[in-house]
Amino acid sequence: MIATTQEEIDNLRKAGKILAGVLRELEAMVKPGATAADLDVAAERAIVREGARPSFLRYKPEGARTPYPAALCVSVNDEVVHGIPTASRVFEEGDIVSIDLGLSYNGYFVDAARTVIAGAGDAAARKLVDGTREALAEAIAAATVGGHTGDIGAAVVRVARTHDLGIVMDLGGHAVGKAVHEKPFIANDGREGEGEKIKEGLVLAIEPMLCESRGEIVLAEDDWTYKMEDGGRAAHFEDTVLITKDGQEILTR
Ligand code: MF3
Ligand code: CO
Repeated sequence: MIATTQEEIDNLRKAGKILAGVLRELEAMVKPGATAADLDVAAERAIVREGARPSFLRYKPEGARTPYPAALCVSVNDEVVHGIPTASRVFEEGDIVSIDLGLSYNGYFVDAARTVIAGAGDAAARKLVDGTREALAEAIAAATVGGHTGDIGAAVVRVARTHDLGIVMDLGGHAVGKAVHEKPFIANDGREGEGEKIKEGLVLAIEPMLCESRGEIVLAEDDWTYKMEDGGRAAHFEDTVLITKDGQEILTR
């Protein structure tokens, strides 16, 4: 959406603050021995407690065979995104755990993700997670009025190259605000100057996904989980941002 009124912006801010707080609670729960289902239960409870609604639960995008069955996506190691949280997914020392959550508040939708290592993790895991966090920061900074959506992905490419990390192909960010996903799609392997022009008030979910090796992905048998084809590990960070006259307001922090 393009947010123009103060009321729209106030609702988006409130939605973003709620989501940021819930994600903080969930991040603290990522420890060896905890399960993905524990996080999902906590996510749904916290969202309802805050007067919002879980927007992923029962979401059925065009082309999906089944509605998404949980509030939270939990994707571990070689899983990239849209991992379905189950009680049999018990976190182990060193697991790279990506949590992705969306909610609506008063009809306004926000979306954000964080990646946390269960325990200390190895040096390569920390490099992957830190590099992906940096890619998000640079991608957000590249989203400016008068620029193009391709500039966002171009920033992701730049950071990935610097750290010798791969870019997950085919997945990316999107506009948001009045629905879970809105157009345009924001590719992470973007090129400067390509794509749509960025306007003041545009609300975007920017979400780089980086990986240890090649970027090809496959869809798992559950019809939801995207995994790295070569079994390498991936990380994912996402924030919902409002494009302002002179920069960006990160709504989900
Ligand atoms: N944050 C996810 C995305 O932008 C949304 C997942 S919807 C779900 O793709 F239904 F898969 F959970
Ligand atoms: Co998203």
